[in-house]
Amino acid sequence: MIPREGNRAMTVTSYSPLAKLIHWIMAAFVLSIIPIGLTMTRLPSGHLQDNLFEIHESFGATIFALACLRVAVRLIRGAPPPYERLRRWQRISASAVHRLLYVLIIVVPLLGWAGASAYTGTPIPVYGLFSLPALFQKNQHLGETIFLFHISAAYLMTATLALHIGAALMHGFIERDGVLARMLPEGWGERLTRSLGGPRENRRVRRST
Ligand code: HEM
Ligand code: HEM
Repeated sequence: MIPREGNRAMTVTSYSPLAKLIHWIMAAFVLSIIPIGLTMTRLPSGHLQDNLFEIHESFGATIFALACLRVAVRLIRGAPPPYERLRRWQRISASAVHRLLYVLIIVVPLLGWAGASAYTGTPIPVYGLFSLPALFQKNQHLGETIFLFHISAAYLMTATLALHIGAALMHGFIERDGVLARMLPEGWGERLTRSLGGPRENRRVRRST
């Protein structure tokens, strides 16, 4: 995406404010729903377990809605070109991880919705405000089978996120290049890099002189 400013071609190097906003709201929901899912399935039956299931399903519905919005924003507005100083293997792996995350933020909630529908055969309440319609009639065996796929896909998402977040933090705190800044609010990346003593390559130069 190369907008023009007067006669000068200006390359966009950072995500749009809307893309950043959706990214961080979704990150907060996804990073909460995983521990909630892992906890609720290991609790004894009771009020706490029921409440956590309801929160999990409501957060999942929210993630699905945000994912649809996000895919639409991505298709309409595009994304900045890859960070220029990345090596070829880094560009390829970042693009593969981002594509896989886009698939998972759609598929994981859909499998959860399908599994819960088949398992109970009833609509799924969302924050007690409205309900998602049941996608199937009650069929517990089908529900359990779909949950196996839901849980496997959720584990794949957790592993992919570990790579994604690890790489983003490595760029922000160790390399101190401009990658993390592309997804941060305007000016935060520069402030972070300055507070850590500047980009790593500058520090190396300073030490050797
Ligand atoms: C602490 C948590 C996270 C950090 C620090 C982080 C950081 C980043 C950064 C820096 C980028 C831009 C990378 C680039 O320009 O090459 C990015 C992109 C992206 N992130 Fe995250 N992220 C986090 C959590 C998440 C979560 C939970 C999800 C979704 C499940 C997610 C999905 C994505 C996707 C799909 C992109 C690609 C955006 C695009 O090109 O359209 N991130 N993230
Ligand atoms: C991105 C969205 C979602 C993520 C990351 C996620 C993740 C998880 C995780 C980690 C577990 C527990 C795995 C385990 O027990 O080891 C789980 C279980 C479960 N999830 Fe989700 N989930 C999401 C969306 C949804 C949605 C939208 C629903 C339903 C509307 C849902 C319904 C369930 C149910 C009912 C279980 C329990 C399955 C069982 O008892 O075997 N999830 N999910």
